[in-house]
Amino acid sequence: MPPASHPASAAVPPSPRPRPDDSGGFTRGYSARRALAASLAVMLCWTMPGPTKAQASASASASASASASASAIQGRLLFEGDTPLSGRIRGHVDALPPASIRCVNCHVRASEAAALRARANAPATTQGFGPPLDGPMLAEPRPRRGGPPSAYDARRLCTALREGLDPNHVRMARNMPIYQLSDRDCDHLWAYLAGRPTLQARP
Ligand code: HEC
Repeated sequence: MPPASHPASAAVPPSPRPRPDDSGGFTRGYSARRALAASLAVMLCWTMPGPTKAQASASASASASASASASAIQGRLLFEGDTPLSGRIRGHVDALPPASIRCVNCHVRASEAAALRARANAPATTQGFGPPLDGPMLAEPRPRRGGPPSAYDARRLCTALREGLDPNHVRMARNMPIYQLSDRDCDHLWAYLAGRPTLQARP
């Protein structure tokens, strides 16, 4: 009996030996290019694994500064009384009308304070002027109320506003009202005030 041979395989002609000058050459060049492309891709993957650390931190700080400026805008609204706050004179029970405890009533620039004082119809609250508030004045160590140099941060500003105590826990004058305000409002006020350039230098 003849050895069983598959009819199809019998029909397939023997594959021609690749000749070096045509398909062989092409195949070699093609696979070389593929190998090169593959190794380039691998190299690119190694050298550019998505955004670099510097890029990532740059975009993080960009979004952080965007939210910091959004917070400063909220802080300004609070400072100027467009967003009303609740506050009273220390030792008093009743809250004062929000319009009379706007920070901006008392913490104006030195030149504005002089102009307001000079005006006969200056509102009563503008008589108890506080110091002009700006970033360097608050955040840099300064002697305050006869104490050793001290500086504010967001939390210390909170304590000052809620309890009337400065960073050395020295009590402030009573004409600085005390406020009922959230941590978030303190943070907004801090973002606004800490970002303010020196006010006294600009008349
Ligand atoms: C009615 C006037 C008045 C209003 C309103 C007022 N302040 Fe004052 N503030 C003062 C006076 C006066 C002082 C100085 C107190 C002292 O030296 O003991 C002061 C002091 C301060 C200090 C301390 C500065 C330092 O160097 O220690 C801060 C901070 C401050 N105010 C923030 C605010 C903020 C923020 C608001 C609004 C939420 C506000 N004040 C509203 C009158 C006012």
